[in-house]
Amino acid sequence: MFFPKDFRWGTATAAHQVEGNNTNNDWWQWEQQAGAILEDARSGRACDWWENAEVDLDAAAEMGTNAHRLSLEWSRIEPEPSTFADEVLARYREILQGLHDRGMEPMVTLHHFSNPLWLVEKGDFSSSIVIDYFQRYTAKVVDALGDLVPHWITINEPMVYVVMRYIEEVFPPPAETGWSAAMRALHNLLRCHAAAYHTIKEKQPQAQVSVAKNMIAFDARPGGTRLDRWWVDQLSWFFNDWWMQALTDGRLRLPLGRGRIEGLAGSYDFVGLNYYTRFYSRLFHRYEREWAPGAVVSDGDYGEVYPAGLFRVIKHARRYQKPIYITENGVPDQADRLRPSFLLTHLREVWRAVNFNWPIMGYYHWSLVDNFEWDRGWTQRFGLIALDRDTQEREWRQSAHLYSEICHSRSISSDMAERFAPELLPILFPG
Ligand code: FCB
Repeated sequence: MFFPKDFRWGTATAAHQVEGNNTNNDWWQWEQQAGAILEDARSGRACDWWENAEVDLDAAAEMGTNAHRLSLEWSRIEPEPSTFADEVLARYREILQGLHDRGMEPMVTLHHFSNPLWLVEKGDFSSSIVIDYFQRYTAKVVDALGDLVPHWITINEPMVYVVMRYIEEVFPPPAETGWSAAMRALHNLLRCHAAAYHTIKEKQPQAQVSVAKNMIAFDARPGGTRLDRWWVDQLSWFFNDWWMQALTDGRLRLPLGRGRIEGLAGSYDFVGLNYYTRFYSRLFHRYEREWAPGAVVSDGDYGEVYPAGLFRVIKHARRYQKPIYITENGVPDQADRLRPSFLLTHLREVWRAVNFNWPIMGYYHWSLVDNFEWDRGWTQRFGLIALDRDTQEREWRQSAHLYSEICHSRSISSDMAERFAPELLPILFPG
């Protein structure tokens, strides 16, 4: 199954998860307290990217990838309000140039779940002050790095961020939690996005800008009622579509808001799609932590391995009539018992979409190397490459070798299935 010549084969990371010693943000502060209670809950040196991202960039190049998605750490770039650190921007230039030198095209995220401490003190996304700060941070970064960055992501997974932080309260807490603060944050995230979009486009008209939107395949729980199915459609709309519709026509729809946001309509050039799993739900519930009999479930009950869901969300995202990038897709799987077949089956779904001539531009696997997995700390291993945190030694999992063959050949083949996941052979390549 061949992919187009110009298809991006990438991996994805986020600053706080890989850089190490990000001491000036809300995650670090929270980890110092949570770390005392939860095993393995401190990012610490992480993957040491601030000192030595190059080790992994070399590996990504050797693997045959031609693209990489990473994020910038706002708390490093602007350690105090209105003070920008040139040496930090210089280090990011070095990393981005390092990607180009190794034949990889960078995609850069401006906000991926972490905030400078000073911004949290000012109320961050629950307060409208965040918009000017975000706009200025964006302007600074685009001036310093724009020539190296063809693709920008303003905000990573805004809906996930709001739910995890304000509703479920499992991310480092904002000044205020609950629905009212969540709604304010959601709207301010949209305003920040709009401001950043126009700032980037003014400075760099040829840049392609979007968000990374997590999309979940929602289904009524097995044996569910018609009401369950009705509810699941609503849930899917809130979670998957509400934000994208706002970006499309600038309108906030009830019950998550009303009115318009200036500059929001049409403020994206592609759809960035993060897909991990399917959620079951039932009437008036968010989701059920249960699976159908026979479901394959990844480490720590993270979720079901459900490749068909990737096709479903791609098909769904076509309504936005823009090029689509799979900006994240992966599985927590320390022993690599699932990942080889995960890669083959999910990429088969991408290939199906490509074969309908849908504009699927690339696939960024989450993640290149095991990294700090937010509230789940180091308990979840998403890396193609395994990391020993103490020694900083790396070891390619089988799936890294597989992904390498895929990237080098721009295809998935029966021969790969035979060697990496023989049980898939009759399913992927019948006859
Ligand atoms: C996504 C996040 C990413 C990583 C993966 C596993 O929701 O964007 O940082 O944690 O999940």
